[in-house]
Amino acid sequence: MVAEIHGKDQIMRYYSRPDVAEEYQQLRGGSLFRQIRTTIHAEKIDELLAGQKVKKLLEVGVGTARISRKLRNFKGAWGIDTSVAMLNEARKVLDARWKLKKCDAFHLPFEDNEFDAIVSTRFTWHFNKKERAKLFEELQRVMRPGAIIITDALNAEVERYGFKKTGINGNVFAVKYTPETAEAEFRSYGFSDVRVFPAMYFFGVIKAFSERGRGTYLKSAFRILSKLPLGKPYDYIIAAKKTS
Ligand SMILES: C[S@@+](CC[C@H](N)C(=O)[O-])C[C@H]1O[C@@H](n2cnc3c(N)ncnc32)[C@H](O)[C@@H]1O
Repeated sequence: MVAEIHGKDQIMRYYSRPDVAEEYQQLRGGSLFRQIRTTIHAEKIDELLAGQKVKKLLEVGVGTARISRKLRNFKGAWGIDTSVAMLNEARKVLDARWKLKKCDAFHLPFEDNEFDAIVSTRFTWHFNKKERAKLFEELQRVMRPGAIIITDALNAEVERYGFKKTGINGNVFAVKYTPETAEAEFRSYGFSDVRVFPAMYFFGVIKAFSERGRGTYLKSAFRILSKLPLGKPYDYIIAAKKTS
């Protein structure tokens, strides 16, 4: 399927629409399935941050703070985004450790080597190869040597599970990865210590059932199920370090 929305400018404009921001949190944070998925990602990201003693964190494309609101292992943080509507949603839920700024991830208003960690979910995959190379160059600039970057990736091998479209009511370009292509890409940007963790298993089963069911027991059962390493994972969390 050819993406209707592609290229940095179109992606920025699409997510800046107030209706998209409003629907984003409802949809991405809404159903039981989505809640489980968000929790699994946030827990893995927080675990990776814990190993890093993060004083200063940057979240790039923070959106409605779907992930950031669940993170604990850092002292202070900046969240940046180009959408005022998204930032307004984020402001409602983030604690006092967070500062938010409207700016472009490709031109960050921060000094070189400023951050101990960068988190960016559902963001970097929206850009084409050339754009991603520029984006990661800019992200590396503001990372201190040894800082960690954590992103996510859709598994290119599980297209059949229905991730043909990304975006809320549009069809936003998204690149998909295997662990090998993810690792190779991060190495090509000069990152070291690249690690690719499977995030969620049993996507199809959980999605089908969770959309019908509710309740804490079901949520717990699905969280256990989603971590059982059987079959192919639906997505990955990628962690890498800026070379010292
Ligand atoms: C798919 S949302 C992801 C939001 C959040 N990270 C999450 O995981 O739910 C992509 C976000 O990137 C923002 N965005 C798009 N282009 C951007 C750019 N060039 N610089 C900074 N943010 C951008 C959008 O406004 C939107 O909030």
